[in-house]
Amino acid sequence: MSAGPRGEGVDPGPGLEPLDLEAIRAQFPILQRSIEGEPLIYLDTAASAQKPDAVIEAIRTYYRREHANVHRGVHHLSALATSRYEEARRIAQRFLNAPQAHEIVFVRGTSEAINLVASSWGQRLEPGDEIVLSTLEHHSNIVPWQLLAQRSGAVIRVIPVHDDGSIDLEAYGSLLSPRAKMVALVHVSNALGTVLPIRRMAAMAREVGARVLVDGAQATVHGPVDVAELGCDFYAFSGHKVYGPTGIGILWGRGELLEQMPPYQGGGEMIAHVSFGGSTYAAPPARFEAGTPHIAGAVGLGVALDWLADLGRDRVAASEARVLAHGTRLLSQISGLRLVGTAADKAGVLSFVVDGVHPQDLATLLDEQGIAVRTGHHCAEPAMERFGLTGTVRASLGVYTTEAELDVLAEGIERAVRILR
Ligand code: ALA
Repeated sequence: MSAGPRGEGVDPGPGLEPLDLEAIRAQFPILQRSIEGEPLIYLDTAASAQKPDAVIEAIRTYYRREHANVHRGVHHLSALATSRYEEARRIAQRFLNAPQAHEIVFVRGTSEAINLVASSWGQRLEPGDEIVLSTLEHHSNIVPWQLLAQRSGAVIRVIPVHDDGSIDLEAYGSLLSPRAKMVALVHVSNALGTVLPIRRMAAMAREVGARVLVDGAQATVHGPVDVAELGCDFYAFSGHKVYGPTGIGILWGRGELLEQMPPYQGGGEMIAHVSFGGSTYAAPPARFEAGTPHIAGAVGLGVALDWLADLGRDRVAASEARVLAHGTRLLSQISGLRLVGTAADKAGVLSFVVDGVHPQDLATLLDEQGIAVRTGHHCAEPAMERFGLTGTVRASLGVYTTEAELDVLAEGIERAVRILR
């Protein structure tokens, strides 16, 4: 089992002081509530992570004491809101080890980040150019490229995966050619938990001159991410999956690429000068942030990223790897249960099916026991199809997930299966 998205054989476990999970859990008010009279066991962090008090309070304070529009006024509150917003950008820069703060673009989330790149950077594609994706991609890293392919005449090539859900690197190598202009890869699969060897795959893409975009929606929450080390060109993630608010996310892009990219949306703040004769545009990141941004979201996201960094992202990765290994052992012992996605490098996800039991029915009975899981295709239909499935049950972990909760999950599955069979 790998320890977080750094994967690629790095095991930061030994020698790291374990996290105090009870102290962490105490910071999440929602984890104190019950569902159907049972203590909540929240195993749906891959869909959206819960929020610590620090984030909730920062948003509350922002609206109670600090709100005004950003970059627009000389008055005290506008300057304060602007400094909070720009500080969040610097926090995101540190979080990704990005070279420059102006390479960080605030967006609504991973989907918008990928749409931005496909719409703007994608304008340079020509008929016959290739966009390379993996079988494991989330729909948000498929459909924007399909739309671009329809517009440009580019062709999509798909990297297959092995039966354990790991990438077929040999096949990847053989489908890369100088026609490949973009390789867009998920960092950690939301459906299977596979950690992709991004550093290696990005190096292979560079050899043929392709750009690399990484969908980090499921990766930033589980451990360190360093865009300089990964060697990618774009990295996207969503705030709400990393203990921050919904409706805010980050696109990091190499400065020289962002500089060359045309605007994605027009409006206030993204311009240099406007006249009816024609307009000129601001430098990045403003060029890509038309309109009043989600200021409170950015503030909350900055606090979430600092909160996670303060825990120690290697410690978070090591702690989650231990809990995931425990869950894998437990679930593997349940008769008729098949784990889908058993790659050596995995993070955060236990996806499974049980013989003779519909995932939806199982999830409903788990919910009655206070256990929240997701079912279905997880917005990754091609990944499901690869395994001959229409869906799985997915238990996904956060930094607050304990081994004891997975004990309850395993017992809950056995109880539900007895009822359903
Ligand atoms: N992409 C999110 C998930 O995996 C919503 O559940």
